[in-house]
Amino acid sequence: MADDAQPHPTLAQLWDARFGEPPPAGLPETVPPALARILSRRTMRRLKPDPVPDGLLSLLLACAQSAPAKSDLQQYSILVVKDPARRAVIAGWLPAQPWVTEAPVFLVFLGDMRRARRMGELRGRPNANDNVDSFMNAAVDAALAMETFLLASEAAGLGCCCISMIRNRIDDAAALLGLPDGVFPIAGFCLGWPAAEGRVSMRLPPAAVVHVDRYDDSRLPELVEAYDRRRHARAPVAPASQRHADRYGVADYCPWSENAARQLSIPERAGFRDFLQRHGIALA
Ligand SMILES: Cc1cc2nc3c(=O)[nH]c(=O)nc-3n(C[C@H](O)[C@H](O)[C@H](O)COP(=O)(O)O)c2cc1C
Repeated sequence: MADDAQPHPTLAQLWDARFGEPPPAGLPETVPPALARILSRRTMRRLKPDPVPDGLLSLLLACAQSAPAKSDLQQYSILVVKDPARRAVIAGWLPAQPWVTEAPVFLVFLGDMRRARRMGELRGRPNANDNVDSFMNAAVDAALAMETFLLASEAAGLGCCCISMIRNRIDDAAALLGLPDGVFPIAGFCLGWPAAEGRVSMRLPPAAVVHVDRYDDSRLPELVEAYDRRRHARAPVAPASQRHADRYGVADYCPWSENAARQLSIPERAGFRDFLQRHGIALA
């Protein structure tokens, strides 16, 4: 479990790691350990092969099920992929992500509109909500369960990495995992004991993300420009991580905004809507 006896970083250290700038005035001077853990969280891709005890995994799954869910409909499922043959097939789809092979535990978080529909069948009621709102509710429920699982796992000293890349093989994943109509993957999930420190990824400043009373992004260009420079100074995007270098080349200065724009300039997973519609999700 996590070692809470370690000296805790100061607010200034936590803020600097997360935002690359000093904290604004008026924040509490001491940060409760649970919040310090969240502020300094990071994705962990290097994991030890040591097993995660079944009992601990069950506890973490119960934490995931403690997440809030829209209308208490609980429209998600969690699939624990234990079978080594299935794990090997999934790992084979993602050779550039060796952590999928190495993680002692691999899960798939699923939006699940099927279970609530079955309640309608069992109760003899029609389902008048096969629509895009229900799809979004199921996706949000699954995401909240995944995030609650992630925070619980990190609190227990484990490392996590979400894997949206599994959706690049969504038809294959649905067949391999026996996903019925109404059930769709939001992400795979690697879990294990950290084999490295990892690194806090610098975030946009709160001024670019948090709005008061009224949405206002009028300062976005200057805020992003400054963020790009802070982030590049601390952790420049490595040439191998620059998106679509074949089209755009490798740049000396490839800041966050450039990499984001590069990524979004090429369609990804354009078949997702088609998959959903073939899997009994009308998006009406
Ligand atoms: C829904 C979701 C899908 C993700 N998919 C992948 C993935 O396929 N492969 C991977 O290595 N990381 C994946 N990540 C991790 C992100 O790259 C990571 O959260 C982001 O770079 C910020 O880093 P941090 O979590 O360390 O703060 C995913 C994260 C989320 C939330």
